[in-house]
Amino acid sequence: MIQLLFSVLATTAAVRAYSLGSAGWDAAYSKAERALHKLNQTEKIGIVTGVTWEGGPCVGNTYSAESIGYPSLCLQDSPLGVRDANPVTAFPAGINAGATWDRSLMYARGAAIGAESKGLGVNVQLGPVAGPLGKNPDGGRIWEGFSVDPYLSGIAMEETIQGMQNSGVQACAKHWLGNEQEHNRETISSNIGDRAAHELYVWPFMNAVKANVASVMCSYNKVNETWSCESDAILNKLMKDELGFRGYVMSDWNAQHTTVNSALAGLDMTMPGSDFNSPPGSIFWGVNLQDAIAAGSVPQARLDNMVTRILAAWYLLDQDEGYPEVAFSSWNGGNASVDVTDDHGSVARVVARDSVILLKNQGKVLPITRPKSLAIIGSDAVVNPNGPNACSDRGCDNGTLAMGWGSGTAQFPYLVSPLDAIQAQSERTGTKIIQSTTDDTIAAAKAAAAAETAVVFINSDSGEGYITVEGNEGDRNNLDPWHNGNALVEAVAAENKNVIVVVHSVGPVILETIVAQPNVKAIVWAGIPGQESGNALVDVMYGAVSPSGKLPYTIAKQRSDYGTGWLNAEVDNFSEGLFIDYRHFDESGLVPRYEFGYGLSYTTFAYSAIGIHVFAAAGPSTGPIIPGGPSELFEPVGAITALVRNSGSVSGSEVAQLYIGLPDSAPRTPPKQLRGFQKLKLAAKQSTLASFELTRRDLSYWDVATQKWVVPSGTFKVYIGSSSRDIRLQGTFTVKW
Ligand SMILES: *[C@@H]1O[C@H](CO)[C@@H](O)[C@H](O)[C@H]1NC(C)=O
Ligand SMILES: *[C@@H]1O[C@H](CO)[C@@H](O)[C@H](O)[C@H]1NC(C)=O
Ligand SMILES: *[C@@H]1O[C@H](CO)[C@@H](O)[C@H](O)[C@H]1NC(C)=O
Ligand SMILES: *[C@@H]1O[C@H](CO)[C@@H](O)[C@H](O)[C@H]1NC(C)=O
Ligand SMILES: *[C@@H]1O[C@H](CO)[C@@H](O)[C@H](O)[C@H]1NC(C)=O
Repeated sequence: MIQLLFSVLATTAAVRAYSLGSAGWDAAYSKAERALHKLNQTEKIGIVTGVTWEGGPCVGNTYSAESIGYPSLCLQDSPLGVRDANPVTAFPAGINAGATWDRSLMYARGAAIGAESKGLGVNVQLGPVAGPLGKNPDGGRIWEGFSVDPYLSGIAMEETIQGMQNSGVQACAKHWLGNEQEHNRETISSNIGDRAAHELYVWPFMNAVKANVASVMCSYNKVNETWSCESDAILNKLMKDELGFRGYVMSDWNAQHTTVNSALAGLDMTMPGSDFNSPPGSIFWGVNLQDAIAAGSVPQARLDNMVTRILAAWYLLDQDEGYPEVAFSSWNGGNASVDVTDDHGSVARVVARDSVILLKNQGKVLPITRPKSLAIIGSDAVVNPNGPNACSDRGCDNGTLAMGWGSGTAQFPYLVSPLDAIQAQSERTGTKIIQSTTDDTIAAAKAAAAAETAVVFINSDSGEGYITVEGNEGDRNNLDPWHNGNALVEAVAAENKNVIVVVHSVGPVILETIVAQPNVKAIVWAGIPGQESGNALVDVMYGAVSPSGKLPYTIAKQRSDYGTGWLNAEVDNFSEGLFIDYRHFDESGLVPRYEFGYGLSYTTFAYSAIGIHVFAAAGPSTGPIIPGGPSELFEPVGAITALVRNSGSVSGSEVAQLYIGLPDSAPRTPPKQLRGFQKLKLAAKQSTLASFELTRRDLSYWDVATQKWVVPSGTFKVYIGSSSRDIRLQGTFTVKW
């Protein structure tokens, strides 16, 4: 097993040397411009228009253009695997990839998803996700993205996109912009201040564009009262001019509302081509775009630009040369004519394993080695008796939770439940397993009383708003465990002195009731781990590896502490500005239960010898616009280093984290913001140098008055630590004009 994993990672590292730069786009544009001249008007219109919902095998399909050998493009969900197809690998969700804080695993996951997409003939994989960013802890789709922190999300976007695109599929960065909740998502306006927009919500998309993402999806919501897919401000000005995006913008499914305005605002492709909620005829492009051009309301040059962008992305990924045919249909169960799963189950397992976050481990109750007896408690310990795919688009919370619900899902080829994996392990250790796999508290107490150690499984689910699960319309109604999880834990803790709580969750859960039980010795946070759930958990619980995940968001003591949440309103003013998640807790002096970046190991790490080598000059970033923004913004301006030592007695991995505080000359900014991290694998007593490379962007704020990224002058604060609050080393550096 372990050897297999190494070979997976070694292969991806080799592939990685091949990366597309601006030169790639230039060559692709030359090809696209030549091809454009061979197309007639009907073909051009067909390239930018979807063939209508369920009009082709994929969730999105465009028309082919025979004169240039261009196919009916196949666009397919989802960010965690190929949706509506089987067999495919059901990977851990984005939020688990974020929780690994491991660049190479983010890349490996993206590469494996990309390989499956390409193998199935998918041209465009509809992911990864940086919107929602996750400012609302109860937002229904926050698990599709990587982290509420824009820096961590940005790195994950970049690695995932490079992984996918090096496998040959076009990635799609979504949802642009401000798509933070499911309630009223097609009418709500996200009125985001310019500075918060840049420093939080745009930031990870800058990484995506820098990584040469082929496509971007505009979102359902409005931004500043204008539909995202009709907004000149966010499409033409922000995405294309300011970020220098050279690929194409597609609409979310049904997020287009006009023929002319959307074309003029910078939309390049309409999906799925017709309105799937309304009678036929609600087609905005197709022949209607042709008429608008003939009438002079949309310039011909705009259509030519749409087509050039779409073709350039296709050439960029070399999809003009021997790309596989679509090998499945989304509408008949998805059975594919090829098996593309390869050894990707091992990637899924490593990501799941390395995203497990150990929140509490009193008296070193974990790892468990050879327990005489274990009680396994809760419906979350077993697969839904009706099967892991029993609910369409995973729209129920029956059995162990390994994925949220909605379009961001894939079918499980299998799902290894915690009980399956623990039972297999117990055969090796001679452990007696006592099960109570419902959420009945009386049965749970009885099982708990009969075992040396009790493991209780609880969960919390969410998803996309078109499905309501147990009264939750996409967004979560609260941050409590589902199915009376608190009462289940209390019942177990009343009968057993060694209680381990395992949480499967899409996002933060309030754990105060559970933390208050003295008999709860350990809390294991497993997120939504995908098909290898149980195996990954056993790898950690039995100590084959030390846990090494870190929280990609804050776990508060009470829901109101976040200061944000989904709104039952038609406007969200984003009035919290920059102060979301730990930025808000730090600023307001609120103490979280478990802070952003937190996670324990079976070993300990010592930090020493901070080194600060920064040579930035204060002032605005200038230079030509390259993909991502002004070129100077991405220039290196030094590095910060520290020595990290595994000071314990077993091997383990530490995520060393760098936070920066801006000087007082900057406008009001969160006290510290993540600006570097590195996952370090260390044998017992081994030391290594952590090095955090800084670019100008990492030291900049968005200056609203000059509309530029500016490095402020003065003294910057440097914090290096094991979490956002467990700061081990501090220093400063000064930047002058
Ligand atoms: C455009 O080109 C296609 C493919 O060559 C052809 O089938 C179609 O008839 C042409 N349409 C027009 C209006 O010329
Ligand atoms: C939205 O409006 C705010 C307030 O006027 C402004 O600061 C911001 O730049 C606008 N955003 C966009 C994308 O136009
Ligand atoms: C898809 O494959 C499964 C498993 O092999 C089979 O049971 C099912 O009937 C197939 N469905 C279709 C529509 O072919
Ligand atoms: C999910 O569980 C509920 C409650 O036990 C049950 O009514 C429902 O039939 C289950 N659905 C599936 C598809 O398993
Ligand atoms: C949002 O801001 C507008 C304009 O300042 C204000 O009228 C409105 O009441 C605010 N909405 C909410 C929900 O706070």
